[in-house]
Amino acid sequence: MDQVLVTRRLVDGVVERLVPYCRVEQHDSETPMARAELLAAVAGKAAVVTTLDDVVDGEFLDAAGPGLRVVANHAVGFHNVDTAACAARGVTVTNTPGVLTEATADFTWALLLAATRRLAEGERLIRSGEPWAWAPTFMLGTELSGARLGILGMGRIGQAVARRAFGFGMELAYHNRSRLPAEQEHGARWVGLDELLATSDVLVVTCPLSEATRHLLDATTIAQLPPGAVLVSVVAGIVDELALAAALASGHLSAAAVDNFEREPAVPAELLAQPTAVLAPHLGSATVRTRRAMGDLAVDNVLAVLNGKAPVTPVA
Ligand code: GLV
Repeated sequence: MDQVLVTRRLVDGVVERLVPYCRVEQHDSETPMARAELLAAVAGKAAVVTTLDDVVDGEFLDAAGPGLRVVANHAVGFHNVDTAACAARGVTVTNTPGVLTEATADFTWALLLAATRRLAEGERLIRSGEPWAWAPTFMLGTELSGARLGILGMGRIGQAVARRAFGFGMELAYHNRSRLPAEQEHGARWVGLDELLATSDVLVVTCPLSEATRHLLDATTIAQLPPGAVLVSVVAGIVDELALAAALASGHLSAAAVDNFEREPAVPAELLAQPTAVLAPHLGSATVRTRRAMGDLAVDNVLAVLNGKAPVTPVA
């Protein structure tokens, strides 16, 4: 029987699907494996189900040994995996695209609404026990109807965010490396990056992290947003967290919402100090149904490769 390592606790019913076919070793915990523990555990495995916290590089592949055939990342992102090193050793890499699109787009809107309407601030105020009273000038936010929504990155998640915008009556624009066919634009207009920045009252960042997009939103590009704009990010690494904190502190941005961070679980103190920042602990795909689908897809990829079949969702 092939040996498979699962580096994290998955939702009920997922790992059970591997058990009839493989010898499964699992780190049954909500926290990541320590590096040394991971390197020791992967030795001799034919497959490994990883999360974004597990760095799969040359050292990892050396530790695994020549029997490793598939790295099934339990995420749509795969910046934790050195895909070139895997390819050089004939190791297939898969991710979990598609199944988390709707949940992540829902959560993007939860963040967008929370930031524009100061929901987290209001909730904190109530819980603080401080006195408060309704007033015509109390905790005013940004209205969505008629506002301009910019979407940076019009992949599956960007398109699902655009579809949901219809009911809010917003004016939509997007920037993507390439312009999409009209049926995938969902009423959004393609514009260049500079125009998107200059014309977005609310900017949603959904583009994948790569060397080209890392810190694409830095002090300079954030300054191109209109005064009072709101920035919502559901991909770590695109927005420079310190530049974001500075733009909130200066008031250039009226609010922001961020779902995942560059050095999780660490969040910079500068960002924590901003009451207008809504900060979420990487919850984009965190629904029961989506996590089951992500787990199932990772398992499907493992079983396909171990059975000599084509992986279901190999990374490009
Ligand atoms: C992020 O959580 C991802 O699935 O890539």
